[in-house]
Amino acid sequence: MILQNKFLKNDEYPPSEDTFFIANNIENEKGNYALDVGSGSGYLTKLLLENFSFVVGTDVNYHVLQHQSSYKTPNLICCNGSDALKIKFDFIVCNLPYLATDEILDVATDGGAEGFEIPKNIFDSVLKNLKESGKFIFVTSSLSNYQKLIDYAQTLGFRTRIIAKKKLFFEELILVEAIN
Ligand SMILES: C[S@@+](CC[C@H](N)C(=O)[O-])C[C@H]1O[C@@H](n2cnc3c(N)ncnc32)[C@H](O)[C@@H]1O
Repeated sequence: MILQNKFLKNDEYPPSEDTFFIANNIENEKGNYALDVGSGSGYLTKLLLENFSFVVGTDVNYHVLQHQSSYKTPNLICCNGSDALKIKFDFIVCNLPYLATDEILDVATDGGAEGFEIPKNIFDSVLKNLKESGKFIFVTSSLSNYQKLIDYAQTLGFRTRIIAKKKLFFEELILVEAIN
């Protein structure tokens, strides 16, 4: 996927409701290799460092990675999904850009048609980087076609289950565990 620079805003996505929702649900995960796809501020990447020995964060937005400050971590790679990586991870987390949008105007939040297009692209990328029986956790929303996304993860061979939900004022966040 080639993204034009105009969609890569310089502002980082600050740790938000969805970030904290994910953080609360992954804080007890442990292992050797962990990946945070769409690292943004680095909040989740840094959290993973507490319980994993080797942690990588990726983001399509180089500017955001370059300017991580409060939650800076050592292994940051600018790429789509995990395209640049050959490592097999025990655990992968992604605070997806899940909003259903006609166009991708902001890569931090816009998921494209039905909130499926960009998440699908990320799933296709991370599949090769998950160890056998590894765990992939992603967030989606009642504002997108989350069932289509879950069904797609299953067609890729993942066993999925919804592990948590959180009602916000205007949407419900849905956290999904996918095991291969
Ligand atoms: C909703 S923000 C989450 C940021 C941070 N992980 C958090 O939880 O606060 C999504 C992040 O994913 C990045 N992103 C969007 N599309 C991506 C892709 N195809 N591959 C890698 N990163 C992507 C965006 O630049 C943005 O930093």
